[in-house]
Amino acid sequence: MKTPLLSSLAIAALVAVTGSLAFAVDTSKLPLPAPRKVDFVKEIYPIFVEKCISCHGPDKQKGKYRMDTKEHAMKPSKEGPFIIPGNSEKSPMVHIVAGLIEEGLMPPPSDKPGESVPLTKEQIGLLRAWIDQGAVWPDGEIKMTAKEITFAADIKPVFDKSCISCHGTAKAEGGFKADTREGVLKGGEVYGAAVKVDAAARSPLVIIVSGKDGDIAQPEKHKLSSKEAELVQKWIEQGAK
Ligand code: HEC
Ligand code: HEC
Repeated sequence: MKTPLLSSLAIAALVAVTGSLAFAVDTSKLPLPAPRKVDFVKEIYPIFVEKCISCHGPDKQKGKYRMDTKEHAMKPSKEGPFIIPGNSEKSPMVHIVAGLIEEGLMPPPSDKPGESVPLTKEQIGLLRAWIDQGAVWPDGEIKMTAKEITFAADIKPVFDKSCISCHGTAKAEGGFKADTREGVLKGGEVYGAAVKVDAAARSPLVIIVSGKDGDIAQPEKHKLSSKEAELVQKWIEQGAK
């Protein structure tokens, strides 16, 4: 450590040597805990699912660490626990997700763009607040209720961006209007109803926006990103509300 370069104040901040892990971390760089009550199931577990559990869940346990249930996540490693209830500043998990440990950032950086996105300051603040508030984690398997996808909130912004120049009020190619839920459900002149609620994946709309319809006019104008196409399919699976 290049101590001479650090001001005495910074050294004073270098106090958090985690209970048993044998390295010092500068916790002065940590985002502050969110100043409110945090709900584990609604706010923390979804972060774990999105960012961690593919490598630390029932299928894979990279670094021998599993964190999909409380029982597994709280189990101490040889060096001690990763989560210290009541003390986020000293919890190795916080140091790890904030990148305070050299080469130890989680999720691990990837060469592929967009594949590994670190936690945001807000997410780290929430994680800290949850740990400070006692790291309350219900026993057993956590069931998350899927967020409801609606046309107004989730689908319309996508169609407004990519479709309504040809399928809106001014122009409606093939008689298809993508600017309202009713228009989308009604479908167009050739394909008819583009949405099949009982067979989402086979809906013409899903096939068209996934780029799998070989006959559609101007295919490149019809292909959405795979994330957006998946969202359209999920919307239909949930009943196209
Ligand atoms: C793409 C896979 C991947 C993802 C996603 C991932 N990890 Fe890891 N994790 C690893 C690997 C690989 C190791 C083992 C690293 C090593 O031993 O050097 C590891 C190790 C760990 C360890 C053990 C470290 C130790 O000192 O033993 C913890 C704790 C951890 N990860 C937490 C997380 C958290 C929290 C997230 C989500 C924010 C996460 N990981 C996301 C691959 C991943
Ligand atoms: C550049 C213009 C253009 C854009 C942008 C566009 N389309 Fe089209 N679309 C067309 C044309 C042209 C047709 C064929 C109309 C015909 O058969 O007469 C068509 C046909 C369709 C049909 C079949 C309608 C029928 O005849 O039953 C659907 C469904 C459709 N488009 C959905 C979309 C969706 C969803 C988007 C956005 C992801 C989109 N389109 C973007 C031009 C466009």
